[in-house]
Amino acid sequence: MNYSANTDRHSSKTILPLTKHGFAASQLVLGFMAHGGGWNDNPVTLSELKRAHDAVETALSVGINMFDHADIYSKGKAELLFGQVLKERPEIRDKIIIQSKCGIRAAEGPIPSRFDFSKDHIIASADGILNRLGLEKLDILLLHRPDPLIEPEEVAEAFRQLKATGKVDRFGVSNMSAGQMKLLEAYLDEPLVANQLELNLLKLDWLEAGIYMNHSEGKDYSFPDGTIEHCRLLNVQLQAYSPLARGLFSGGDRSNASAAVQETAALVARMAEEKDTTKEAIVLSFLLRHPAHIQPVIGTADPDRIRACSEAMKVNLSHGEWYQLYVTSRGRGMP
Ligand SMILES: NC(=O)c1ccc[n+]([C@@H]2O[C@H](COP(=O)([O-])OP(=O)(O)OC[C@H]3O[C@@H](n4cnc5c(N)ncnc54)[C@H](OP(=O)(O)O)[C@@H]3O)[C@@H](O)[C@H]2O)c1
Repeated sequence: MNYSANTDRHSSKTILPLTKHGFAASQLVLGFMAHGGGWNDNPVTLSELKRAHDAVETALSVGINMFDHADIYSKGKAELLFGQVLKERPEIRDKIIIQSKCGIRAAEGPIPSRFDFSKDHIIASADGILNRLGLEKLDILLLHRPDPLIEPEEVAEAFRQLKATGKVDRFGVSNMSAGQMKLLEAYLDEPLVANQLELNLLKLDWLEAGIYMNHSEGKDYSFPDGTIEHCRLLNVQLQAYSPLARGLFSGGDRSNASAAVQETAALVARMAEEKDTTKEAIVLSFLLRHPAHIQPVIGTADPDRIRACSEAMKVNLSHGEWYQLYVTSRGRGMP
């Protein structure tokens, strides 16, 4: 176990936990959920292929070298498009890190959509992912959402086989609590390298759980205690999905938003102006300022917005500014 602290990005260069697992990843990751033309059976179009090319090209041009997928995104079409991009630009393969997820199954006849961590399903899913991406090896495979019927021995065996056959390099999880991770970790040959969770300026449970420790108020959060700490201690890369809160604070539709959201959006705009940066950069800097060295997984497919997000790497929020954002967004002072 390595307990060494990562270098503070505010005093020097960030060292991501993923670096300790052998990946020289950018701190921003580009998610591909918005690609592929939607969750339908329509064939992918040339304009969608161009959109995928443009997103990848823009990401690379601003230093983003890691891409996040899942077998279910647009029913596999997001991976298919990314595979086509790689086929047309094979020279980029060695310069990027490709991650995907499995474990969510579509409905089949009377069986509803479900989570499935059985060995056979994990192995078959990895094969499907590799086929669609046109790869021999995937860099990182995440288990998408906890299956209550998980048999950790089976997952360990699936991971062992995928590693031994050279199909997957490293493994991680998504939406898992510290307790769920510990159960799995007890059976695995290798450490989990990542946990992808919804962390952003709107959904603050991941912070609320900590600040209400030993306090009589505020039991209304639903984030499992100790998850952030567990990941930090074991160098599990925390990845934040929906890091822009889908644009809520940076220009998206706020017609039904609360007063706290409206005030936070105004604060974000003010800070962006003062710091001569973009609103997206301020929203993401809230995650980047956290000492866990979180990787925001941005989901925009818009090249301008990808560029706006990349400005976050130049923003250093002070301790006080971070709290200004936090307290404004929670809509009340600290307990
Ligand atoms: N592990 C999980 O369970 C899980 C769950 C969800 C997502 N993910 C991953 O996380 C990635 C990001 O998730 P996300 O897409 O929810 O995150 P996000 O980055 O918070 O939101 C991106 C979405 O918001 C839109 N948006 C952003 N700013 C906007 C603005 N100012 N005005 C209008 N629309 C705006 C984008 O549209 P444009 O494309 O037009 O910019 C895009 O649809 C996904 O791609 C996926 O890889 C993982």
